[in-house]
Amino acid sequence: MCGAHVGLTHLQHDICPLKLNPYVVGHSSIYCPVLQIVKRYIVSMYSLYCSLVLLTFPIVSCAWSFSSGGTSSDRRIFLENTAKQGSAAVVLIGTSFADNAEATTDSWSHDKGSVYNIPPGSLSGQVHVITGASSGLGLESSKRLATAGATIVMTTRTAEKAEIAKKQVESYLSDRSIAYNKDTIHAIPINFDNLEEVRSFPERYRKEMGDRKIDVLMNNVGRINQKRELTNDGFEKTFQSNHLGSFMLTAGLFQMLNRDGARIVNVASRAHQFAKDSSTGKQGLDMSNLQGELSYGLDGWEAYGQTKLENILFTEELQRRADAAGLGWLTVSSLHPGVVGTELWNNTALAKSNNGLRSIISNLFFKNILTNEEGANTQLYLATTPMQQRDMFKGQYFNEYGNRVDLDPFARDESKAKELWEVSERLSSCKFNVE
Ligand SMILES: NC(=O)c1ccc[n+]([C@@H]2O[C@H](COP(=O)([O-])OP(=O)(O)OC[C@H]3O[C@@H](n4cnc5c(N)ncnc54)[C@H](OP(=O)(O)O)[C@@H]3O)[C@@H](O)[C@H]2O)c1
Repeated sequence: MCGAHVGLTHLQHDICPLKLNPYVVGHSSIYCPVLQIVKRYIVSMYSLYCSLVLLTFPIVSCAWSFSSGGTSSDRRIFLENTAKQGSAAVVLIGTSFADNAEATTDSWSHDKGSVYNIPPGSLSGQVHVITGASSGLGLESSKRLATAGATIVMTTRTAEKAEIAKKQVESYLSDRSIAYNKDTIHAIPINFDNLEEVRSFPERYRKEMGDRKIDVLMNNVGRINQKRELTNDGFEKTFQSNHLGSFMLTAGLFQMLNRDGARIVNVASRAHQFAKDSSTGKQGLDMSNLQGELSYGLDGWEAYGQTKLENILFTEELQRRADAAGLGWLTVSSLHPGVVGTELWNNTALAKSNNGLRSIISNLFFKNILTNEEGANTQLYLATTPMQQRDMFKGQYFNEYGNRVDLDPFARDESKAKELWEVSERLSSCKFNVE
């Protein structure tokens, strides 16, 4: 039944979009049984398409590798890497159909092309801190939060990027004839490659914002390094930016969160599924390979996937600790924004490869990647949806359709989450007291 939202699976939910939700624009109202048939057809065609690609892939690879010369070891490495990239593509795009996702009452879900529209003025008086806001999802989120009246504090790698980001938000608002006050748009640099800048951020925030409490902290900063490199702090770059820096920042800002109701939104990824134990090959967080010491893999995708699993485990552990301390005002959630055509994606080996086969895979699988506008939907939804719904977000992970996803056991591993927390405190020399 179209109107019954409770307990719908992701697929059913997609078939019967929530037409009554005023925040969703762009849906067509088609009778659900018709949509159901169309959807089933699309899903079966999609499965057929994936199987064909996967079957064709090794055959074409073999043909290519044997006709192009090179040593047998070159061919083996090429085939291994290409096959892995192929399966990476399937994981990233394909499993959106298989996510064990559930739309709950009041949930929001969208199809490609729809935009989560935050009611104008609904965020007046709120302060939102958005990290990694100079481009992509962070910049898009900042624009839409400001449009809805929030005071935004963007973090950018450099002071120059801070000025540019502010101007971009201001012109976005001006272009839409939205009145704004310069006091509501701030940008403070943090280079996450330098932990000293993370450590000093709370003090710099206070200088800029006085004692204004933070309503939402959006830990959005993220990168994929294709080769293993260390920062001057001595940590692997992807690990430091994507996990350790955000862990420290959250710890540093914790006392400044609004105790009448605050949210932390951690932008993770479906790529968390690439995280695996380097000795057994099983999915999960490898504590002995946190910084890619033993295996970096797949042009950095494995290392990236591991940091995205860390974002999820951090979300769960922080919520557990907050609940245990009776901090009912805090809601922490994580999400996958979809595969989005941002700088991060465009700079991956898979997206920018000139290598014939990789670009074939890339073109086959990633033609329909989301725009920044679409990709920012879920993080904005989690950051702004009315507070009554916050209980269903606590410690949870959502997909690009705004649906809660039941994570695999390896992504709910409480002992790993606790261990990660303790290791992060030790590595960053930062005690994170949740109180
Ligand atoms: N795009 C996707 O398909 C996708 C899919 C799943 C998850 N995500 C996640 O979405 C989030 C946003 O990424 P995006 O896709 O919007 O990519 P993006 O356009 O590259 O944005 C990433 C932001 O993080 C900043 N950043 C990265 N490393 C930094 C560092 N060491 N210090 C300071 N700033 C740093 C970048 O600044 P600079 O420009 O100065 O580097 C940029 O502002 C990330 O957490 C990413 O993992 C993206």
